[in-house]
Amino acid sequence: MCGIVGYIGDNKAAPILINGIKRLEYRGYDSSGISIIENDTIQCEKSVGFISELEKKVNGKFNEGTLGIVHTRWATHGAPTIENAHPHIDCTGKISIVHNGIIENYNYLKTKLEKEGHIFKSETDSEVLAHLIESCFEGVLEDAVRTALKEVEGAYGLAIISLDDPGKLVAARRGSPLIVGIGEREHYVASDVAAILEYTKEVVYLDDNEIAVLTRDNLKTTDINNVPITKRIDEVQWNLDKIEKGGYEHFMLKEIYEQPQSLHDAMLGRFEKESNLVHLGGLKDKEDDLRNIRRIIIVACGTSWHAGLIGEYMIEEHLGIPVEVEYASEFRYRNPVIEASTMVIAISQSGETADTLAAIHEARKKGAIILSICNVVGSSIAREADCGIFLHAGPEIGVASTKAFTSQIAVLCLLTLFLARIRKTNSVLSDDLACKLKEIPKQVQTILDRKDQIAEIAQLYSKSDNILYLGRGYNYPVALEGALKLKEISYIHAEGYPAAEMKHGPIALIDKNMPVVFVATTDNVYAKILSNIEEVRARGGRVIAIASEGNCEISEMVDHVIFIPETIDALVPILSTIPLQLLAYHMAVMRGCDVDKPRNLAKSVTVE
Ligand code: G6P
Repeated sequence: MCGIVGYIGDNKAAPILINGIKRLEYRGYDSSGISIIENDTIQCEKSVGFISELEKKVNGKFNEGTLGIVHTRWATHGAPTIENAHPHIDCTGKISIVHNGIIENYNYLKTKLEKEGHIFKSETDSEVLAHLIESCFEGVLEDAVRTALKEVEGAYGLAIISLDDPGKLVAARRGSPLIVGIGEREHYVASDVAAILEYTKEVVYLDDNEIAVLTRDNLKTTDINNVPITKRIDEVQWNLDKIEKGGYEHFMLKEIYEQPQSLHDAMLGRFEKESNLVHLGGLKDKEDDLRNIRRIIIVACGTSWHAGLIGEYMIEEHLGIPVEVEYASEFRYRNPVIEASTMVIAISQSGETADTLAAIHEARKKGAIILSICNVVGSSIAREADCGIFLHAGPEIGVASTKAFTSQIAVLCLLTLFLARIRKTNSVLSDDLACKLKEIPKQVQTILDRKDQIAEIAQLYSKSDNILYLGRGYNYPVALEGALKLKEISYIHAEGYPAAEMKHGPIALIDKNMPVVFVATTDNVYAKILSNIEEVRARGGRVIAIASEGNCEISEMVDHVIFIPETIDALVPILSTIPLQLLAYHMAVMRGCDVDKPRNLAKSVTVE
């Protein structure tokens, strides 16, 4: 949520900063701005809307400056206007800051600073940081930042430059991700590796309450009390082609099509040679603890929460361990019961979602063992968990999660198989699960090959105002996910429901104008869902069914069928989700929506 990039080095800063911030546009895109030190002044440009607007303003300017910061905003405090866009500048015009996160005591700080004579120009919480640092400045920028941050409550990822202490870029982190990139006689700061991948793969992940001072040749890290901290340099494994569209019209479409590969990568090296036994490197040291767990709580948000529901069904069915799935935002504020034998699984594509991070802090306080399932290596949740499994799905840029979701299900399946092995509960069922998982990438490809049929159905319904998604058993979370995908990118109102619940309310909505998507594969609740289809048909509703290959019966009952290959129940969601992703994608494109940057959303939600 919001993106930050900073640069100091020998090269011109502006093109590097604009290029970098464009790669972070998926984090927020309602306004943007840049500050560069040039000709002994801090020069600033801001614009409202996509970063292409800022790019136009910057074009032909900033030909000299080699030090600067840039920001793309997702508004929290104050509308998306030029005044509220970052960077924010202090009263003297000599300090410029960009900020991610929320300053919780900004009202108090603002009143105090106004009494001291500071003049505020925006409605944002972030601007207080510029004035606070100004009020603490005595010649050394990092000292002023340290003193100022001691007064601040809330979360920040912060980059600061100053005209009175030039030749340095100061970065600070608490609760909002920030990394430092190391180049040849240059340093970068960014809220996400995607911003700097083109320039360097050597990075340092800052931890909470750390401050980094970057000069062209040096990187110094300390804590907030100026105690030096030695940081490890990591190498980013992602390649540049993974963050480019590579000929696809949208990142979302590219990521949908990458799923055979991302699912294959999720399994890579995790099955013992020619067997169905699973080994997970990130859990190796915790096998004893995991052998003894008696209850699991899954915490997540959004699409990751849907994956959690599928994990619940899978783990309970295959391992008999009780599982609960909670919205991380709810879990963190109640008083959940956690015993010593409880494992909390945090699922998060980005590994930075503020509510999920806070939920694991809550779980840790209560003594749970914490396992993370994340995509982004080096992310906060992955680093704070006791153990974890990475998705290895490659960067997901489209705001609507697609390949991360199917990889989360695959990884939950690997976790189930891993637990079955170490707890010695392997069975014919787990053997079947493993064999069927290995077939999944090829089966996904066969669904992708039916893209034209799915696009044709999308065409028929793209003008709908409402669509209902229904499923039972393992397909209930798929119905939720299908509805979420459609509403977030097409702005069509969509609801997902357990099919049997329809008669307790949603059935009142059904008439000839209400398309209903049934996820009706041939599983243990198939006969039940047929009755639900009949109930919709009896009221004139139009039905699109996702069904198992070879099911002729259903074709007679519904308006359209999209067939998917047969697999074991627990893995059906990976397959049944794919047509729903494509349906949502095509409908959104047909409605002229920007599917990669849906209004009001952000990829990584680092505020509460
Ligand atoms: C945002 C994204 C969703 C995502 C959710 C949770 O709302 O737009 O796509 O599912 O956050 O994100 P996480 O990174 O924790 O999976």
